[in-house]
Amino acid sequence: MALLFIEILIFLATLSASDIKGLEPVAGLHLEECIDCHGDKTDHEIMHEAVEIGCDVCHESTGEAHPEDGVMGFKLVDRTPDLCLSCHHITQGKAILHSAIENGGCMICHQPHGSEFRVLLSDRYPAEDYLVASTDSFGLCFMCHDTDLLEAEKSEWATNFRHGDQNLHYIHMNGAKGRNCKFCHNLHGSDQTFLIEESVPFGNWEMQMNFIATEEGGSCLPGCHGKKVYSRQ
Ligand code: HEC
Ligand code: HEC
Ligand code: HEC
Ligand code: HEC
Ligand code: HEC
Ligand code: HEC
Repeated sequence: MALLFIEILIFLATLSASDIKGLEPVAGLHLEECIDCHGDKTDHEIMHEAVEIGCDVCHESTGEAHPEDGVMGFKLVDRTPDLCLSCHHITQGKAILHSAIENGGCMICHQPHGSEFRVLLSDRYPAEDYLVASTDSFGLCFMCHDTDLLEAEKSEWATNFRHGDQNLHYIHMNGAKGRNCKFCHNLHGSDQTFLIEESVPFGNWEMQMNFIATEEGGSCLPGCHGKKVYSRQ
């Protein structure tokens, strides 16, 4: 069993552009030929596994010859984000979606073919639970959110996660042991307001957050500390 797993890993690690095959020719072209002209789509440090299955997973012929000036030779098999959600059920059952998805779909944060950043992201977002927190490490989030959310030690406007003017994002995310956003937020969607997670994996334990929002603040009782209440008043 372990050996089989290792063999699969080796197989995946040795996939290259020449392994990309589709079953049927598209617009009279075999899928290997796509790479002759669109090699940039497979020339990424981190590849989307769907692309390794074949271009026709997502692109289908419009029936026109390809390539031809001013003629669309291909269309997507479905519009996004439905195309992506047909394989990735990441928003299923979530009552509230991140507005970034509602406004921009998936490609505002992910690259459909491949990327230089982990998880096909468009910018930096770290995997570690704890790290030296700086806005650079979370470049993806700060494409849209104001950096004062993290950097302003005291503020009455940079965030609502504050006690008086004490910025609680700053408190949780400063020094060498800063916490990752995903400690508290689900980046795609959640059943609670502010995309707060109900529980997060912590080692091999599901840690409950017990977050309750109130008019002027909120409270939580995670495994990390006793019940803490914050109030903006
Ligand atoms: C002989 C070179 C060549 C081959 C082979 C080729 N393409 Fe293209 N393709 C182009 C050019 C040129 C364009 C237009 C400029 C651009 O968008 O890069 C284009 C555009 C596209 C587009 C943008 C939308 C459109 O239809 O204009 C898609 C999607 C695409 N190609 C997919 C494919 C797929 C899938 C294959 C293989 C089945 C393929 N191409 C094979 C040269 C090629
Ligand atoms: C997982 C789905 C998926 C697969 C598989 C896929 N693509 Fe795409 N491709 C997309 C999406 C989505 C867009 C539209 C991107 C946008 O609008 O920003 C796109 C756009 C393109 C474009 C036109 C815009 C551009 O970025 O140049 C080309 C050319 C293209 N793809 C070629 C390919 C080729 C060649 C393959 C196979 C090696 C392939 N794609 C496989 C999803 C996919
Ligand atoms: C035909 C099925 C299919 C479609 C359609 C598809 N994907 Fe994927 N995707 C996969 C597979 C298979 C993997 C690798 C296994 C996994 O991580 O789930 C993957 C992996 C990913 C990953 C995780 C990579 C990682 O490092 O963990 C992201 C992000 C992703 N896809 C985004 C998208 C987006 C965005 C779209 C739409 C443009 C899309 N996918 C469309 C099959 C698909
Ligand atoms: C606001 C930016 C953002 C948007 C928009 C977004 N994602 Fe993600 N996604 C992320 C980040 C960041 C991660 C990496 C999470 C981590 O570090 O564990 C991720 C991870 C993933 C993964 C890997 C598995 C997982 O659940 O962590 C998949 C698959 C994925 N996204 C698919 C999608 C699809 C499909 C869409 C569109 C419906 C989408 N994403 C929209 C930021 C985004
Ligand atoms: C493409 C732009 C964009 C990106 C990138 C982005 N967001 Fe957002 N996000 C928004 C918008 C728009 C809103 C809604 C307005 C607001 O609350 O600022 C939002 C709201 C939120 C909320 C509050 C939800 C609520 O219900 O009030 C959280 C939490 C959040 N984002 C976290 C993140 C994290 C973490 C990242 C990085 C992984 C990220 N965002 C990346 C655009 C983005
Ligand atoms: C320790 C938990 C925690 C961490 C870590 C955390 N947040 Fe938050 N965040 C919250 C809480 C709680 C709220 C809700 C504040 C309220 O409205 O009462 C919030 C609210 C937000 C909002 C809504 C606007 C605002 O500031 O009130 C955004 C956007 C946001 N967070 C982004 C981020 C980003 C980006 C990261 C990582 C760089 C991050 N958060 C890390 C707990 C956290």
